[in-house]
Amino acid sequence: RLGKSLVVAIDGPSGSGKSSVSREVARRLRAAYLDTGAMYRAVTLHCIASGIDLQEGSAVEAAARDIELFISTSPDRESVTISGDDVTAAIREPEVSSAVSAVATTMGARAELIRRQRALIAGAGHRIVAEGRDITTVVAPDAEVRILLTASEEARLRRRGDQLGGTQSEVQLKQQVIDRDAKDSTVVNFRQAADGVVTLDSSDLDFEQTVSAVLDVVRTVAH
Ligand code: DC
Repeated sequence: RLGKSLVVAIDGPSGSGKSSVSREVARRLRAAYLDTGAMYRAVTLHCIASGIDLQEGSAVEAAARDIELFISTSPDRESVTISGDDVTAAIREPEVSSAVSAVATTMGARAELIRRQRALIAGAGHRIVAEGRDITTVVAPDAEVRILLTASEEARLRRRGDQLGGTQSEVQLKQQVIDRDAKDSTVVNFRQAADGVVTLDSSDLDFEQTVSAVLDVVRTVAH
């Protein structure tokens, strides 16, 4: 049986289905859930809204340190606030998506967010599924379960396209996803699994099959 205390770390590129799969895995495990990408998005939105130049590293780092950021760790309640303002929907806007790599590649800002993420994981108390790009390697390298969730480029673009409901041209979309992953992978390696990390390719799996596959890994690794 699964222990009371358990950290499940899941990394992967955009469009791997990581967030929805991780959230559902958390529900089934009766665990907390942490979407670390949402934190990078929140800092990005905060910078845009406060007129902070995203190219200025020290200012972005200060923003990541000073921001009054709250993120729900309940898998059933998606909620992010900045100074009490609900930004849950705003952080998903295309303006944020296209600017977020500037925050993700500012090492000082990463250090601040990593510190907050470790505190949230420690504070979760019992079980937590934490998801992002550097959870298996940097944020929680000692997690009981570490998974790299991958998918072929084709599968990822298809899913991302479905998510956006076909509002953007396929070419634009493809370029955006490729650009963002290329920028992000200059600071975090989420394409290859680190030692001890289980790679799970979801290209040919549907949502339910992917959730089951993750749960199987959890049960084998953390028996
Ligand atoms: O998963 P997402 O698309 O919401 O992530 C938003 C951005 O944050 C993306 O550019 C990658 C970055 N990110 C990161 O660098 N490290 C994490 N642990 C999570 C996200």
